[in-house]
Amino acid sequence: MEIEQTLVLIKPDGVQRGLVGEIIARYERRGLKIAAMKLLQLPRVTAEALYAVHHGKSFYDVLIEFMTSAPIIALAIEGRNAIELVRILNGETDPRESQPGSIRGDFSVDITHNVVHASDSRRNAQRELDIVFAADERYEYNRADEGTLHVKAV
Ligand code: CMP
Repeated sequence: MEIEQTLVLIKPDGVQRGLVGEIIARYERRGLKIAAMKLLQLPRVTAEALYAVHHGKSFYDVLIEFMTSAPIIALAIEGRNAIELVRILNGETDPRESQPGSIRGDFSVDITHNVVHASDSRRNAQRELDIVFAADERYEYNRADEGTLHVKAV
């Protein structure tokens, strides 16, 4: 069973537009578990570490400026194949390509103000989670419905 954790950020636009509950509900309804969650304003050094792979790209300065401009919600979302499932729920990075029904497809029109971020691989999930959360900020517990969500393959 591929139980994974992924980092989700609800970006400043998602927080300021009052979309936090709506977005988190979509992960929860899918059967994914909140393993960590906090409201914080990203220090510039943290945003730069998270987005290091984009350093030097045309949109980098605007991205860092935006991500540090106001509070965000950071989440560790856990579940079977959580990395892929969260990216599907989020939709494509560019709102012009994101499908209705996805978070970005329903709530965004601009590639910078695209409401959410999520890790794109196991390696990046581990790296990004370690940047944002201390070990004692991530919790282990059972959802009441895990017995039915995680049916063993026969
Ligand atoms: P995110 O998933 O947070 O990862 C990097 C962010 O850079 C991306 O979402 C977009 O908000 C932002 N961005 C702005 N322009 C581009 C672009 N041309 N290609 C990819 N990401 C971009």
